[in-house]
Parts: sequence; C-alpha cells; structure tokens
Amino acid sequence: MKTVPELVLGFPDAENYKRRENRDLFNLVFIRNRHLDRLCEPAISFLVGEKGTGKTAYAVYMTNNDHKETRGSLRYIRETDYQKFITLKRERHLQLSDYTSIWKVIIYLLLSQHVVETEGGPEFLQRFTRMGDVQEAIDEYYNRAFSPEILQALELVQESKVAAELFAKHAKVAGEQKEALKFSESRFQTNLFYIQRQFEDALRQVRCTRSHILFIDGIDIRPASIPYPDYLECIKGLANAVWEINNDFFPTIKGGGGRLRAVLLVRPDIFASLGLQNQNTKSRDNSVFLDWRVDYLHHRGSELFRVIDRLLATQQEEPMADGDAWDHYFPWDASNVREQFDRPSSFVAFLRWSYYRPRDILTMLAILQDLQRQGIGREDTFTFEAFDSASFKRQYADYLLGEIKDQLAFYYRVEEYELLLKFFEVANGKGRFTHNEYLDIYAKFRQLVGKSDEDLPDFLRSSNVFLQFLYDLNIICYIETPKDERPYPRWCFRERSYANISPKVKDGVEYQVFYGLYKALNLGREFTGVD
Ligand SMILES: Nc1ncnc2c1ncn2[C@@H]1O[C@H](COP(=O)(O)OP(=O)(O)OP(=O)(O)O)[C@@H](O)[C@H]1O
Ligand SMILES: [Mg+2]
Repeated sequence: MKTVPELVLGFPDAENYKRRENRDLFNLVFIRNRHLDRLCEPAISFLVGEKGTGKTAYAVYMTNNDHKETRGSLRYIRETDYQKFITLKRERHLQLSDYTSIWKVIIYLLLSQHVVETEGGPEFLQRFTRMGDVQEAIDEYYNRAFSPEILQALELVQESKVAAELFAKHAKVAGEQKEALKFSESRFQTNLFYIQRQFEDALRQVRCTRSHILFIDGIDIRPASIPYPDYLECIKGLANAVWEINNDFFPTIKGGGGRLRAVLLVRPDIFASLGLQNQNTKSRDNSVFLDWRVDYLHHRGSELFRVIDRLLATQQEEPMADGDAWDHYFPWDASNVREQFDRPSSFVAFLRWSYYRPRDILTMLAILQDLQRQGIGREDTFTFEAFDSASFKRQYADYLLGEIKDQLAFYYRVEEYELLLKFFEVANGKGRFTHNEYLDIYAKFRQLVGKSDEDLPDFLRSSNVFLQFLYDLNIICYIETPKDERPYPRWCFRERSYANISPKVKDGVEYQVFYGLYKALNLGREFTGVD
C-alpha cells in the first residue's frame, strides 16, 4: 500500500477537476449516486448544497461524461461579468424583467453553442436550418471567434441593435423572414426579445441525440466591488430566466430526442433569498439537494465514507474491498463512542469535526498528510497523534473559518465579517453558554462595536437576529434537553431539508460553538463536550 506522503488526495475544490490533466483522476474517484441520477430528471432547475458539498463536482462530472444520455456544460460567472451587468444597468436603466431577458439570451446562446458543438457541427446545421441561420449570425457578429463565456455573450446583448440586425439578415437570406426589419438602439427590450425569439425558433427545430444541461456556477461569491443590492438583482434575474426557460419554453418543444435545460448551482441560504415564487415546492420538486447526513451508527454505509474510502482505495495496486483502505490508513478508534463497532471507529472522529461535507474531510486528510510529511506521526498510516495535535486543530479551524468568511462574502464586507469575530473576543474563551450568558456577551459586544445602529451590518439588528445568524452559519448549535433523555445538539445543517430550508434557532436554551472552530476563535477554557 502507498505510504501517507505518497497518497494523492485530489482537490477539496472541484473546480480543479475541470482541467484536462485532472479528469481521469476525477472519473476514478467520483461516486455516481442518486443525486447524479436525479440531476438528469427534466424537472430539475437548481442544484442546491452548502459550501463544499459537491455542487461544482456534479456539474464537472456531467461536463466530462455522459450520464443517462445527458451531457453538461459548465459556465462560471465572474467578477467582470457582474461589472458589465452593472454598466448595462446604468446605461439602459434596467429593471428586474430586463435582467431576466438578458439572461435568457445568454443562456440560449451558450446552450446553442454547446448543442452545436456536441451534436455534430456542419451536418447538424444543414439539417436544422434555423439553427444554421442563428449560427451564421453569431459567426458574423463575433468574426467566427465566439468563445462560449458569459462575458462574450453579454457583448452581444450590449450591442443588441447590431446583433438583432444580423439575426434578421440571416433569417431573411434563408427566406425565413419576408419583410426587412428595423431595429433601434433605444429599443433595447424589443431587440432582445427579437434575438430571444430567433434562438427559440432554432432550438424548437433541433432534435438532439441526447439531453443537454447548461450549468451556471459562481453565483455564491459576490466580488467585493459589486454592491449587494445590484448583485442580488442580477442573480434574481438569472434564477427567473432559468426557471422560465425550463418551464415555459423547453417543455413546449414537441417531438423526440434529448431535452435541453439550464441548471443553477446555489447555496441553500442564497436560494432562499432569490425571491422565487413557491420556493418550498421549487426546492422539493425542482432541485437536487446535496445532502451527506448520516448518523454515527450507520457511518460505514454512508456515501461520505464511500467517497473517502474510494479515493484511498483506487490508488492502490491491488483491488480492495469496501472499507479496507480506510481501515488500513486509520486503524484507531474515536474517543467516547457509545455505539459498538467491529471495525475501527476512526471515521466518527472525522464526522464530529465536520459539517458532513466532503470538502471538510478531504481538507482534514490533506492537513494530516502535510503534518506527517513534516514528521509528525508515522509514514504508513494516518496517526491519532497527528489528528489530536494542536497544529492539526489550528489549521483545520482556520480552514473552517475561511469557509465561513467566503460564505459571508455574499452578504457582507470583510470589515463586517471581522465584527463577527469580535463577539468571540468578548466571549472570553466561552464555547458554551446559556441564553442569559449569551445576552450578557452580546450586550458587551454591542458596546464594543459601537452604540449607533448606523453603518452596522444587518446581523447586528438585535440579539435575536445575531443568535439566528450564528446558527445559520453553523457556528453554534442549540441544545435540546428532552425530559429524561440525553441533551441533543441541533445544528442548522442537520435540520435543513427541502421542507425546511431556513431552520430557526430556539430561544432560552443552551448553545454550543462548533468544536472544529475552537482554535480559530480562541475558545476552549470552558470546553465541556457534547456531541
Ligand atoms: N459524488 C462525489 N464523489 C467524489 N467526490 C465528491 C463527490 N461530491 C463531491 N465530491 C468532492 O467534494 C469536494 C467539494 O466539492 P465542490 O467543490 O463541488 O463543492 P461546492 O458545493 O461546489 O462548494 P462551493 O460552494 O464552495 O463552491 C470536491 O473535492 C469534490 O471532488
Ligand atoms: Mg463550487
């Protein structure tokens, strides 16, 4: 078996698997499960999951491989794209409905391009002449150099008059359109609508040999230069566009062949702020919710365990039975485990320190490997000493806090995130508190950050709001103590489900900070231990 320093642990962020040189590794370690199957169902418009649960991974897998006769194409929204949106908004005084129209054109353009590329070039365009016309217009507009990126697609929108004229010209040459049409710079909506119709006519005509999904990723990271209201408006327009295209247009296409669809990758908290109508039904019927939860007792059968065990097993020379690779590398038991296991219970120790996200466990492994490379622990297995070391806890806590910082970047500025950290300075080492103790800490904290409400972030509106905020971020859980039973910790990420996308914290009970964060928040003198 490979030694610990020799192991290839892959990438905790699946974006890296988009690169050609990493594809084979990814195909080897990727677990094809029910989420992947469900993603191929026609009703799905949203791929929802907390940070690090695999949204990008699923989209990348579908981009590199066919699954259930469906092929994906993944596009990432970047800072410059948003900047362009904002410029457009200023120039054209856009409303939400305009954003939706713009996104529709972008989605159609990217999807058409993907379909033409994967379904077979020139013959395909000769067979489906409307798509051929559209393609010619695109080629002329971009001088045959369209690279399928959102930014490029946006250029076409920006120059809507020129673009609409080109679409009309090629439709006319082909005899699809009788009269000459006039377009004006100032009638932006009309131009866009015309372009949209051209795409729809073309897409209605084509028959694909398989289904296609355009995945849009990257809406969870708001670049610091883009103000929150502008950002939210832009992605609301995007979510509406995805919804309308998938439900009002694509299903109207009659005839056989594959189906087309766009799917938005989104975190649950952001999904909740998109302002979609009937959000509850949409999250149940039209989303795949990536969920890796499992209880300790059944951890060996969990998919999370499988992901890690497989990563370790696939790189050995000899084939290995399920679980054997894990047991070889982690031959120790987690402490204070109540359940009985006939195999080592080390994975439970990893679960306790994680939010049940593959990225958490992969990051723990990477940190441990690094430490063992530096000589802490042995070489052939991952040791409990390394797992129990202060360096491991420190590095892992910093990773977790980094993820929280990223998550908050959607809503708040860096300085505002830093205010949050001050709460724990005031908490003075306390990682577990009653509601009254919390109120005391909060009062001191508010005094420290300033009395005036002006310029303070939303999460400081009141002690209740802040408590909910800590709970939403999974920084704290609340502890329920049913009569005659053991105290039970309730975590937001465990309570969250299709039906309950924004779980509420409970008042008047005890609260416990997540163990994994202790080192980064300088807590621990009050360490009590509930799991
Ligand atoms: N089914 C799976 N099989 C194997 N590995 C997986 C699977 N799902 C997720 N992973 C791994 O989990 C890690 C995190 O996934 P990913 O980067 O896709 O998360 P994400 O939800 O996109 O997070 P973020 O919101 O931060 O972008 C990656 O290393 C990925 O390869
Ligand atoms: Mg991602």
